[in-house]
Amino acid sequence: MPDATTLADLDIDGIDFAFEDNPDLHATLADLRARKPYAVVPFAGVRAIALLTEDLVAAAFRDEKIFPAKAIYPLSTGPVLGHTLQCMTGREHRINKALVSRPFRRLATAALAEPLITPIAHQLVDAFADRGEADLVAEFTTAFPVRVISALLGLPDRDVTDMARWAHDLFNFPVDADAAMRASREFTEYITPVLAERRVNPGDDLISTLVGENVEGEELGDDQILAFLRLLFPAGADTTHLSLGSTLSALLTHPDQLDLVRADPDEQIRWAIAEGLRWEPPVAMLPRFCPEAVTWEGIDIPANTPMIFAITAANRDPATYPDPDRFDITRQVMPATAFGGGPHACLGNWLALVEMQTALAVLLERLPGLRLRAGAEEQARVTSMVAAALRGPRSLPVEWDV
Ligand code: HEM
Repeated sequence: MPDATTLADLDIDGIDFAFEDNPDLHATLADLRARKPYAVVPFAGVRAIALLTEDLVAAAFRDEKIFPAKAIYPLSTGPVLGHTLQCMTGREHRINKALVSRPFRRLATAALAEPLITPIAHQLVDAFADRGEADLVAEFTTAFPVRVISALLGLPDRDVTDMARWAHDLFNFPVDADAAMRASREFTEYITPVLAERRVNPGDDLISTLVGENVEGEELGDDQILAFLRLLFPAGADTTHLSLGSTLSALLTHPDQLDLVRADPDEQIRWAIAEGLRWEPPVAMLPRFCPEAVTWEGIDIPANTPMIFAITAANRDPATYPDPDRFDITRQVMPATAFGGGPHACLGNWLALVEMQTALAVLLERLPGLRLRAGAEEQARVTSMVAAALRGPRSLPVEWDV
């Protein structure tokens, strides 16, 4: 059996995969993958194993025994989010996930598009449509998923600014732990009385639904609901805003593809979103952990080895995606691991897809001739964020015909 001293030599040096943006990330990962399906890479001052093919990343997500989520999340998010689904395993995880799943099913989320999600997209666009130019990250993509979550929770519009600040600060936990702890405290203080009220007077919002659920005789306690609601910010808002931004960045820098979408939005918007998720998945380099020494898929992994599930490398695996660096919505495939897999697979994938499809439809409808501002390609580039796990554009300076 391998032990902690036997992790192979580094396959690459000079870049820390935990903290540093690598402007040539895709080329770097492709070079490594051409040598073997995984690589030993520098990660937060130690060595990690990055899994680089779709087969390995998909298998790793399924293997909760070898790479249990609970080996990392209590440390990486526990202090601010609490004991979330991601910290659970086995029966506890199965029951808790079943208790929160119903409102996130495909049909339930599709039913939200017209009454809840589309009006939010229009409201945000109303604020700048007449102006002819905007930064879509600052004025649309960041705000949109937070507004959707606030509305799902049945919270008043006036509290949206606080929600957006908490979302931003929780997102930045690895960079500013104090702000994240403060956001966690403030949100919990704000939402606790709301939860108590919904227990007494339930409505048709998400919190009231969670309060009423019962699986195998078990119900959600306050602590479980509060942890779940805190998790909705990093899991549900940040991922979606980065992904929407990356897809817009891809379309705006590939005008031929944007023309295809414009020509047949009803058919092509969903494929543009799917290809955006493949081309630049927001959860790009997901850190996990291997607690026990093991030989897995022929790889000797010492105990306590940090792992990177390199979804972004899996999504450009030439064995699955021919000419993988080309952004091409005519592939018409949903990438297999953008939403994770196995027991901890994303709960919100259907909601995320409906949100992004709705947003893109509204933006194209309301902003005729939408295009990147001349010379803004570098600003709109997709880059690594908050450590290097997540990716998205920092700004999207655009203009349109008014
Ligand atoms: C484009 C948008 C999204 C992407 C790419 C995404 C991706 C992911 C990935 C990769 C995981 C697995 C993490 C792991 O195994 O360690 C995950 C888990 C999760 N996601 Fe998403 N997500 C998105 C949107 C959402 C939304 C909108 C929600 C809810 C409102 C959500 C809720 C969750 C939850 C609760 C989990 C944890 C599930 C568990 O541990 O059982 N996500 N997501």
